[in-house]
Amino acid sequence: MGAIMVSVAHEVALLAILPVPIIVTGSFIYQRRIGVRYSKVRGKVADLNSLLNNNLHGITTIKSFTAEKREVDRVEEASTSYREANREAIRLSASFVPIIRMAILFAFTANMLVGGWFALEGKISLGAYSVIVFITQRLLWPLTRLGETFDLYQRAMASTSRVLDLLDTEIGIVEGDTKLEQVKGEISFNDLGFSYPDRETVLEGVNLTIPAGETVGLVGSTGSGKTTLVRLLLRFHDPNSGSVSLDGHDVRDLTLESLRGSVSLVSQTTTLFPGSVRDNILYGNPSADDEAVVEAARVAEALPFIESLPRGWDTDIGEGGHRLSGGQRQRIAIARAVLKDAPVLVLDEATSNVDNETEAALKRSIEKISVGRTTLIIAHRLSTVRNADTIAVLGNGSISETGTHEELLSGNGLYPRLWAVQTGEVSQ
Ligand SMILES: Nc1ncnc2c1ncn2[C@@H]1O[C@H](COP(=O)(O)OP(=O)(O)O)[C@@H](O)[C@H]1O
Ligand SMILES: [Mg+2]
Repeated sequence: MGAIMVSVAHEVALLAILPVPIIVTGSFIYQRRIGVRYSKVRGKVADLNSLLNNNLHGITTIKSFTAEKREVDRVEEASTSYREANREAIRLSASFVPIIRMAILFAFTANMLVGGWFALEGKISLGAYSVIVFITQRLLWPLTRLGETFDLYQRAMASTSRVLDLLDTEIGIVEGDTKLEQVKGEISFNDLGFSYPDRETVLEGVNLTIPAGETVGLVGSTGSGKTTLVRLLLRFHDPNSGSVSLDGHDVRDLTLESLRGSVSLVSQTTTLFPGSVRDNILYGNPSADDEAVVEAARVAEALPFIESLPRGWDTDIGEGGHRLSGGQRQRIAIARAVLKDAPVLVLDEATSNVDNETEAALKRSIEKISVGRTTLIIAHRLSTVRNADTIAVLGNGSISETGTHEELLSGNGLYPRLWAVQTGEVSQ
């Protein structure tokens, strides 16, 4: 096509081709500017979504603080800045295509005029002139689509790059390939050191061994790193120094399935899933039969309340388990752990948030299920771990004392002081 034009009249051909580099350069500049605006729109919509998500989950807190007005204002603000960001992007995007069309129209008109003038002057034949007009149109008109394509591309890129950023996040935990057949459940923390990224050191030189089948109580003040120890055991993080081992194997060498499959965790805030009570308990072991589920509920002392629910076992728990009391939720969590029947049981402040009656019930359940199982009971209240085979005190990043309740009480460490405060022998 170009060849035809150049052979006909190179001046006219030049006129037809001239707008092409201008349009392409302009498009690239535009692309860079609209890309920034589209990313801003994606960012704003993410802010708005997370605010709404938080508000829906925290609706009880919001209402109890009568903070509805404040939250409405925040949503309004987020939604306004989303709209503004969108407007900025649309303003640029809407002007781009017409500008390209104008440039093309300009080139087309110039081409027609100059070509027409050349034809009148007799410099080119009439036939050549019509070929030029026709061909210029064929050459330039598709360029109008270029703008639309660039716009679509940037819009898609803004979304894609958010997803790709996530995918690019390095996978921190790479599982090992040792499978454990028969887990006895000996756990040891060996000279363990850990800190969260960009935070102060949490653990430094933690040494603690829990022999298979024994019950160890772990106490320590809030923020001393008790939950962190559990997270290291389950490999949600890896230690900076030292190691955690299960039956003598470094947890980093084990498959995640054999590691996590060996541990039942009951934590302070239990997650129940939408679905029936039965489904939630079955979560611990989906292939269990009805009899095992009922037995697990019985051990967890959850049976009476489950049977008194309007639809019994089929009662829908609702999102986040909101329709049950804290104590009831915790009993379901224990039943779930019982059903999982793992060799290691970890209770992380499982009884901290419940009433006295539930705590007593949970303690009875724990005593039953800890038989023949390695059990780690983390508690703030010392009375919860009083009967453990060994009690370990975590303070200043390491285990400062270990022993039975009596042994620790007769020592002169942190434990006797904590005990005195908690039993009311001395005032805080
Ligand atoms: N995901 C996290 N990122 C950064 N710091 C954390 C994280 N989780 C806990 N921490 C910090 O680590 C310390 C120990 O926390 P944690 O193990 O939860 O204590 P405990 O369970 O004994 O109350 C605290 O100072 C806490 O702020
Ligand atoms: Mg904790």
